[in-house]
Amino acid sequence: MLQAIDLTKRYEDGLLALDNLSLEVKEGEIFCLLGANGAGKTTAINLFLNFIDPTAGTALINGIDVTKDPLEAKKYASYVSENVMLYGNFTARQNLDFFAKLGGKRELTKEDYHMHMRKVGLQEEAFEMRLKNFSKGMRQKLGITIAIIKDAPNILLDEPTAGLDPTAAAEFIKILKGLRDNGKSILMCTHDIFRTKTIADRVGIMKEGRLVMIRTREEFLEEDLEKIYLDYMQEAV
Ligand SMILES: Nc1ncnc2c1ncn2[C@@H]1O[C@H](COP(=O)(O)OP(=O)(O)OP(=O)(O)O)[C@@H](O)[C@H]1O
Ligand SMILES: [Mg+2]
Repeated sequence: MLQAIDLTKRYEDGLLALDNLSLEVKEGEIFCLLGANGAGKTTAINLFLNFIDPTAGTALINGIDVTKDPLEAKKYASYVSENVMLYGNFTARQNLDFFAKLGGKRELTKEDYHMHMRKVGLQEEAFEMRLKNFSKGMRQKLGITIAIIKDAPNILLDEPTAGLDPTAAAEFIKILKGLRDNGKSILMCTHDIFRTKTIADRVGIMKEGRLVMIRTREEFLEEDLEKIYLDYMQEAV
């Protein structure tokens, strides 16, 4: 479970990027955060991952305060970003092996890695190919494979489908659904309202650092999510 309690970030230059965010993502739930460029979505994710320190408030991963016990908290979370950090000179399998060992998993074999890559729909010829020759979609698939191998109960994603072709994005979304159905808590920032409609259990809209709206799946399916979004963007904060 992911919890933000009055989470606030003011950057050194004085900009209030995140203003009192309170939010819970439960087990088996996909929560999508929408919002204009600069709304504070990445800031929220980066606070959960302890990449930056909050000005006020708390981020909890499985009840562990990420600033008080960052190493323990990170055991329970995986992160997939638009630009997944992978090693260009390593093959796909070597990247998996590196990150698995970093996470303390030493027992995995070549066949295990291949099985995982097959499951996320990466083509066989890519398994032993160097990352620098990978397309964006292939990198994203490998990024989610790392998350799957880590098997952490919480997954944070920052625009994971940005730049993916429609087939790759649809496959990616299917993988996320599977993870959700396995009980993971998933927090995803995205600009993709279409994908949000297909997978979100709840949606939040952020505007100028504030979470201005939350809708459950039932609620946003009754209305037009795109219209709700545009209406919120037009309204004064
Ligand atoms: N390191 C930083 N120092 C100062 N300001 C920052 C820093 N990082 C982000 N900001 C500012 O904080 C605000 C929120 O940025 P953030 O990256 O969280 O937005 P976002 O919702 O993820 O936007 P996008 O949709 O473009 O990814 C923006 O005004 C941004 O310029
Ligand atoms: Mg962002």
